[in-house]
Order: sequence, then structure tokens, then C-alpha cells
Amino acid sequence: MSLHSESVPRLAAALQVQQLSQKKGGKVILGPGLGFTVKAGEFVGLLGPSGSGKSTLLKACCGLDKPSQGQVLLDGQDLYQHLSLWREKIGYVPQDDIIHTELSVEKAVSYAARLRLRSDLPVATRNALVSRVIHEVGLQERRQLRIKKLSGGQRKRASVAVELLSRPAILFLDEPTSGQDPQLEESMMQLFKSLSREGTSVIVTTHAMASVELLDLVVLLQAGQLVYMGPPAEMLDFFDSRSYEGVYKILAKSTPGEWLQRYRQSPFYSYTTRTP
Ligand SMILES: Nc1ncnc2c1ncn2[C@@H]1O[C@H](COP(=O)(O)OP(=O)(O)OP(=O)(O)O)[C@@H](O)[C@H]1O
Ligand SMILES: [Mg+2]
Repeated sequence: MSLHSESVPRLAAALQVQQLSQKKGGKVILGPGLGFTVKAGEFVGLLGPSGSGKSTLLKACCGLDKPSQGQVLLDGQDLYQHLSLWREKIGYVPQDDIIHTELSVEKAVSYAARLRLRSDLPVATRNALVSRVIHEVGLQERRQLRIKKLSGGQRKRASVAVELLSRPAILFLDEPTSGQDPQLEESMMQLFKSLSREGTSVIVTTHAMASVELLDLVVLLQAGQLVYMGPPAEMLDFFDSRSYEGVYKILAKSTPGEWLQRYRQSPFYSYTTRTP
């Protein structure tokens, strides 16, 4: 199903992360020297063991947490120098729920639409968009239910619906499929892929491996370092693993820096340095 609306044109943004390092509590938790490029309209998965820095990296990329060192560029512009320009073109769904509300799904999405969409948009168009995003995330049968009564997975989908309203140029989703059953997980990943084809770059963190092959590219983190970027299927060759889950086992057995070094010497390293 298409989310494209003539009234709200979109143009996907390219993301470049350059020489990034993030320190928290005196400890380096990302980088140093972390970099990669997401081209406009790509659908990219951010993978890695728990605690490897995925959420921290997403927050740095979406303008919420300025890196200690390095740069985040959107369409070649420094994000933190042009935050006000970019803020409304960036969508972000955090790992933890932010919507805990007495409002129904429909009311919550409607209020968000009034806040975020152009005020000259006809009410009928706005209402149609509200219905459409609720439908897209599969909450049409729950639209009258108060959000606090939804299941964890349904609440996550309500957060996604709100972000879909504003047609971001780039959308960051932190584990949007956690708490979803396998069929929903796949249909949400299909939805994100179709968004990427319609003019939104999409970067999603996930622990679910079933839909990994829908991604254009995978960025794999280990202990705050990028140890693979490339097509999902080729990640199996790179790690000599038969399954995606197996890659995590191989990483757990490795010595620190081992895969970083191998990656930097591999042809896949060109993915981190490509121009958008
Ligand atoms: N504000 C902070 N102060 C200190 N340490 C932090 C802070 N934020 C994150 N960390 C640490 O940085 C590391 C990476 O955390 P992050 O939340 O980015 O991991 P993650 O890959 O998203 O993990 P998960 O898969 O469990 O969500 C963790 O060890 C975490 O404890
Ligand atoms: Mg996380």
C-alpha cells in the first residue's frame, strides 16, 4: 500500500557519519573513528549485540545527542549546525515507549497530525492521512482504544504511525518490531521498505533476523565499532556463518578488535567511505 500523498511531497535525505566518537560517563561507547554513509532512499538495518551502541548511534544521527567527536551530515549539511532546518524532516521512534496516554489511538494520531502537518492542509486530507497511517500499522481495529490499554507491540506501532504522518526525509526506528509477532514483524519491515522506495531513507535497529534480507544494507556494531557494512546475504560470507543468528555467536567468541581489523581490510570497507 502506498503512503504517498501529493499534498506532502518528500525527498529522501542522505546520511553521512564521519569520524564519530561518543563518550558517556568518561567511557568511549561509540567509535572512535566510526563512519558510514546511507544513500537517499536506502533501507538500512543497524544490528549488533545488546549494549553494542545501536541506540546511542541512532540518537546521535537524529539530532538528539551531539557526538563527542566527529560529524553527522544530512544531504551534506552538518546536522548539529542546522538542527532547526532538519528537525521537522527527521522521524525518530525511540526504543522506549513515549506514548503513555489516556487518549485513543485515533485522537492521539489526530492531535499529532494537527501539530505536525501544514496548517493549510484541508481537514479532510488530514483526516484521510490519519486513517491511512493507522491502517498502515494495522491498528484500525484498535483505533478507539485508549493507548494505555494497548499491548507493548501495539503501542510501538502507534508511535510508528505518528512518525509516518509527517513524511520525514529520513526515519530512524529503534527496535520498532520488538514485541511484534513474526507475521507483524515482517509486514512492518515491508512497510519500512516501501517507505524507503517512496522517498524516505529508513534506518532501523532490530534483533529479529527473519526479515534481514529485506534490508538493502546492514550496519553491524560490536562494542561501539562498525565491524560490517554491506548487503545482508554477504554478511554470512564475511563471517563464514550459515545463519544470521550465527554471526552473533561468532562475534561473542572473537577477541576485541579482531573483526574490526578484518573488516577494515575487506572490500566491504568501501561501504563506510562511499559518497552519497
Ligand atoms: N548516558 C549513558 N551513560 C553511561 N553509559 C551509557 C549511557 N548511554 C548508554 N550507555 C552505555 O553504552 C552502551 C551502549 O548502549 P546502547 O543503548 O546504545 O546499546 P544498544 O546496542 O542499543 O543495546 P540494546 O540492544 O540492548 O538496546 C551500553 O553499555 C550502555 O550501558
Ligand atoms: Mg538499544
